[in-house]
Amino acid sequence: MTVPFIDLQLINSRFEKPFQKGWSDVMSSGRYILGDQLTKFEIDFASYCGTKFAIGVGSGLDALSLIFQSYIHLGQLKPGDKILVPSHTYIASVMSILKCGLIPVLVEPNIETFNIDFIDLESKYTPEVKAVLAVHLYGQLVDSESLLSFCKKYDLLCIEDAAQAHGAQNCKNIKAGHIGSAAAFSFYPTKNLGALGDGGAVTTDNKELAELVRQLRDYGRINRSESVVFGTNSRLDEIQAYFLSIKLKSLDFDNENRRKIASRYLKEIENPLIELPFYSEQKDHVWHIFALRSNYQRKIIHHLDNNGITAMVHYPIPIHRQQVFTHWVDLNLPITDHISRTEVSLPISPVMTTDQVDHVISAVNSFTL
Ligand SMILES: Cc1ncc(COP(=O)(O)O)c(C=O)c1O
Repeated sequence: MTVPFIDLQLINSRFEKPFQKGWSDVMSSGRYILGDQLTKFEIDFASYCGTKFAIGVGSGLDALSLIFQSYIHLGQLKPGDKILVPSHTYIASVMSILKCGLIPVLVEPNIETFNIDFIDLESKYTPEVKAVLAVHLYGQLVDSESLLSFCKKYDLLCIEDAAQAHGAQNCKNIKAGHIGSAAAFSFYPTKNLGALGDGGAVTTDNKELAELVRQLRDYGRINRSESVVFGTNSRLDEIQAYFLSIKLKSLDFDNENRRKIASRYLKEIENPLIELPFYSEQKDHVWHIFALRSNYQRKIIHHLDNNGITAMVHYPIPIHRQQVFTHWVDLNLPITDHISRTEVSLPISPVMTTDQVDHVISAVNSFTL
């Protein structure tokens, strides 16, 4: 039996009929950019996240960058300000900060949750820090109470990178995207809510910020011929908005399926060579990635591969060791380094069959040295 890391064809084929209708509706509308489908999706997604506004953009990276640019326009950030961000995240979180002339300050993760470590966060604070970019990594919410009280204590903007956490909600039923003052989502195809191409969104309750993001994504325009700010071209296409509106209806069901698979992995994987991830059994985790840890990372991946199972590492090269950031190579981030050497991501997706889940469990349990 083979178990791919994620089967995008199978995930999307569940929606083939409504997608075909979408294709024909959008094609015959003659409107392919900034039309009714995008407006509809923005209303649906804002309502799903519980925010007043959602603005569809070209990617998750653009969603993050447009938030930072908007705060600069609003005078709440200025180039050179420092932003606390986890060192263990996808590179886009850090690149978005640098793209806007801001300075990332890398904060170690907590080894149990993989999310930002609050002790290191406190120790990295200096008066030049003006915001926290909190990443809900692998689909698990950052502890929102601790995050918000830290931001309040130092009067910092709280921005969420919710690219991996569509639908995760805390114990007060507040969803990813509505915890901080603004949030960025990615609809990259592998995400829990994935498009059939690139896409992203900003969510916020802040009307001024929402208007700025709307302008900035479209050349800074307020109408067809007037640009009021220096913008870019980063618009979510009509066809992608249509696909996403359809898939949004299944997001909770898909997340529930992911939770069921994760619960089985957590109960049934028993191997002394493996550390399972922390799970509070709450809806604060939507299991974008099921990340275990082992000192035998490469051997486990090889063993799974021999059993027809594709496992991956998120992320094998930490950001501070990327060639593009040579000036960071001497940073002391031992937990980030440790996770990159020990993390193994097992397949998890809403279309996995019971047999596939059984197969992954027995293959992981049969791993020996
Ligand atoms: C945590 C995180 N932030 C940002 C991004 C960037 O999203 P995109 O690839 O849509 O630009 C991603 C996804 O790739 C991500 O996983």
